[in-house]
Amino acid sequence: MAASEHPSDMPIHVASSELATSDLKRLSDWYGRTLGFEVIDETSSRTVLGLGGTALLSLVHDPDAKSAPRSATGLFHNAYVLPRRADLAAFLGHAQTIGVQLTGASDHLVTEAIYLDDPDGNGIEVYWDRPRKDWPLGLAGDIRMATDPLDLESLMIAMPPEGEARLPAGTRLGHIHLKVADLAAAESYISGVLGFAKQVDYPGAGFFGSGGYHHHVGANIWASRSGAPAPEGSAGLRSYTVTYADEEGLSSAVERCLQAGFEVQESEMGAAATDPWGIEVQLVAAS
Ligand SMILES: [Fe+2]
Repeated sequence: MAASEHPSDMPIHVASSELATSDLKRLSDWYGRTLGFEVIDETSSRTVLGLGGTALLSLVHDPDAKSAPRSATGLFHNAYVLPRRADLAAFLGHAQTIGVQLTGASDHLVTEAIYLDDPDGNGIEVYWDRPRKDWPLGLAGDIRMATDPLDLESLMIAMPPEGEARLPAGTRLGHIHLKVADLAAAESYISGVLGFAKQVDYPGAGFFGSGGYHHHVGANIWASRSGAPAPEGSAGLRSYTVTYADEEGLSSAVERCLQAGFEVQESEMGAAATDPWGIEVQLVAAS
């Protein structure tokens, strides 16, 4: 077993994402109030938010950005992974206290998860990972996931006496889940180009992870089968960052992009490509 089971310590992980919005202040304030995100960097047109000094989410102001159609490809949710189960219980209590409408609560066997939407309609998941030794495996050793109702009563018992309003500093973007038009094309890109291994087949969805993690990237066609990318200038997901453990991992990914016919440009942090759904992917090396 690896020294760490944390998704951000795997050979490839998703580190952050960027959303466009027509109301930067409203959205930024909402993430602060609801998730406890702190402003890490700020200009008139961009706010970088995160926890404990780690950037997790960039918000970009685009005054003309309009909501994309539900059937468009793009973001299904940004999923923030918490260090402990008690943190999820504390967040549940906090959400109830401030009256945030939750959109779901599920037990996925490998995780327990709570779902909500931000005011622009961007999906958010907040979850914790059960220890890997407890993940159920199929006969072939494959990871099993399901969508069962979350045992809220049991979770509430785990609530610390003094619930924290903000998510803890160790919170990370554990996975990003995309709406895609076609699962085979999604697998070709997420696995064949970005380098995440297919971990779980699910009805209408695929889950891809690195280092044995259940998924760093999810893709589904539940509302977006054969859908078109969001029209240019739409609100919502504009970019996500995929981090490779070292320069070698990064250059292999750039090579796979080029071989698959995707344009790659040098960027400040590493390389920038565009995924099959028109979303920018920043490819970076951790060291
Ligand atoms: Fe998810």
